[in-house]
Amino acid sequence: MPRPRLLIAGNWKMHGLAADLGEAETLAAALAGRRVRSRVALFPPATLLDRMARAAQGRGLLVGAQDIYHEPSGAFTGAISAEMAKDVGASLVILGHSERRRDFGETDAQVRLKVEAAFRGRLEPIVCVGESAEVRDAGGTMARIESQLRASLPESLGEQRINVAYEPVWAIGAGKTPSLEEIAEAHEGLRRVLAHVIGDQAQATPILYGGSVTAENASAVLAVSGVDGVLVGSASLEAADFLPIVWAAEAASEPDGGFESWLRG
Ligand code: PGA
Repeated sequence: MPRPRLLIAGNWKMHGLAADLGEAETLAAALAGRRVRSRVALFPPATLLDRMARAAQGRGLLVGAQDIYHEPSGAFTGAISAEMAKDVGASLVILGHSERRRDFGETDAQVRLKVEAAFRGRLEPIVCVGESAEVRDAGGTMARIESQLRASLPESLGEQRINVAYEPVWAIGAGKTPSLEEIAEAHEGLRRVLAHVIGDQAQATPILYGGSVTAENASAVLAVSGVDGVLVGSASLEAADFLPIVWAAEAASEPDGGFESWLRG
């Protein structure tokens, strides 16, 4: 089965005012009209979704939500549903990010409900898993991320498209990353879990790496077997930092592994 199209995703977290939409505009302008092999997506705060989606439309830039609540509508003050995010132009949604799990007490069971809600609302989820420093130090990385993924996925995915992101909690915003071998091992384990749920389709399901991805390390991370994209936090806030990561992905998706782009300089 061919490698999935790479997904280069930028999570703005709780950053961004209207004045920052220029960064998305610069990114969209750089992508527009090019035959970009990867899928490129930005996840702004909900307040900017509508405007960013309008600016991005038809220009090779996808826009997604950072979270949703699982109900379609109702008396849930402050919450946003899959249908609402879709309504303003989101096509993807990040679910179970470690900051949601840590700061908002989100559980695997809730993430699973949100994945089902995303399917219902026609949003493509990126389900995040990752171990804490304590779990890693105790040698529990594989057991933790595999059980997190199993518990965060519905029993059957049907024909739905899904993405997974391996994001070691200790690497996020820390300027630290696991070794390339550790990333490969984690992705292999997560793909095994996916294979239990969706069989052969697991090969075609993008598994992203996230945690301190920058223009400097993106090529090396994207060259790791089983890495089908990256989920980028702080290096996605400015187009000048994010675009080199997109171009690294373009080079990595060339059939010759980027040799042609390397020759072109
Ligand atoms: P970072 O964040 O790139 O700033 O480490 C990654 C993430 O939280 O997705």
